[in-house]
Amino acid sequence: MITTNPYKVKQYNLSGLNGISDHTLEVHFKLYEGYVKETNRLNQEIQGFLRGGKVDHEAMPEYSELKRRLGFEYNGMVLHEFYFSNLATNGSGEPQPNSDFRKAVENSFGSYDVWKGDFEGVGKMRGVGWAICFQDPGTQQLSNHWISLHEVGNIAGFTPLLVMDVWEHAYLLDYKPSDRGKYIEAFFSNIAWDAVEERLKGRQVQTQRA
Ligand SMILES: [Fe+2]
Repeated sequence: MITTNPYKVKQYNLSGLNGISDHTLEVHFKLYEGYVKETNRLNQEIQGFLRGGKVDHEAMPEYSELKRRLGFEYNGMVLHEFYFSNLATNGSGEPQPNSDFRKAVENSFGSYDVWKGDFEGVGKMRGVGWAICFQDPGTQQLSNHWISLHEVGNIAGFTPLLVMDVWEHAYLLDYKPSDRGKYIEAFFSNIAWDAVEERLKGRQVQTQRA
């Protein structure tokens, strides 16, 4: 029998952000908690299928459904941990002029403004999902990507550096659906660039198990 400790819900102290209300955060933390619980539940259920050492042919449809859902729930958990930990109440709109992130952005996009325009453009794409700036560990190049839901579009092996939630629950209590741009502006004013620098140095968000 496989035994896996469950993942733990992390706590974030983000009250008082610019343009993202405490109420929005409260609702959002609850949603995040749901992803952690569902990930744990799915892992446990999947383990149940392996008690005999292999998956019964008869059980394959149910097993497959759980495996597919795990991608959604697990990424929902991890991307929220990246998102909350790249926000801070004392965040700032722009990275330091001599920061590694700014240098990496200039190498990949020519200028910070071009990178930002691309990142914001991804964030304004129609649909629910995430805008993520990744680094390719092979070439060190940065690129911005659209992730649908939580699991479609993640680039295998790339390192997430800056993660922005653009599901409607991230801003609908504070802005109209058509005002996603204002939420993106607010997001930028709260970025914890030191967290982004750490990710660039290879120190990633770690999930925690009990
Ligand atoms: Fe979210």
